[in-house]
Amino acid sequence: MKELKDFPKLIKVQDGLELRFTEPIFENAKELFSLVVKNRNHLLPYLEWSHETNTKTAEDTFRFLDKTANEWESQTKFDFGIFHDNNIVGRIGFFKVDLKTKSCELGYWLDKGSVGKGIVSKCVRAIEKILFEQLGFNRIVIKCDKNNIESAKVALRCGYKQEAELRECRLRVFNNTLTTDLVFAKLKSD
Ligand SMILES: CC(C)(COP(=O)(O)OP(=O)(O)OC[C@H]1O[C@@H](n2cnc3c(N)ncnc32)[C@H](O)[C@@H]1OP(=O)(O)O)[C@@H](O)C(=O)NCCC(=O)NCCS
Repeated sequence: MKELKDFPKLIKVQDGLELRFTEPIFENAKELFSLVVKNRNHLLPYLEWSHETNTKTAEDTFRFLDKTANEWESQTKFDFGIFHDNNIVGRIGFFKVDLKTKSCELGYWLDKGSVGKGIVSKCVRAIEKILFEQLGFNRIVIKCDKNNIESAKVALRCGYKQEAELRECRLRVFNNTLTTDLVFAKLKSD
């Protein structure tokens, strides 16, 4: 594979762990919406889309899946469901794709009951391997809130280096506070 348009819609990370493109159908939206509702308190400190005013019903999640399919089509964002033992447990994807510099950013979240098993680190490595080895990407960025120790640990565990601390760069609308982000990156040569 040499072109982004051929990025696989199914990635087998290891036995019982897969990344799957999610077709925008209502069944899938309902399943994902239930996972978000179950995890609102876990996600809300760092992912504002999970607030009930942003993701209120399964229709909102359906619109998200539909948008995601369009973004895949336009090659601007490639977002997957994380499936553990055939159950959806989270999402991971890459976006801010820049073909001139061969770079992109990675993001992820996982069901609270599935953290602490190395799932997201394995998924990061699986996506990054395809980007670096098959598509000739040169740079992948992971950004997280400075207080999000678990997310920073994923980046460090996967060999990303901290490059910056963006002080009070982002407004968290739901509690009207300015938050500080950390920027981690990995080069193909690292
Ligand atoms: C951040 C988040 C994605 C981390 O998920 P995760 O799957 O636990 O992360 P990892 O894959 O790196 O797993 C690491 C943990 O699994 C343990 N582990 C078990 N087996 C492992 C293995 N084979 N390989 C690596 N780690 C393993 C590690 O020891 C570590 O546990 P520790 O933190 O107690 O030391 C998750 O906490 C989350 O969804 N948080 C809320 C949403 C969020 O913040 N998203 C990111 C926004 S920037």
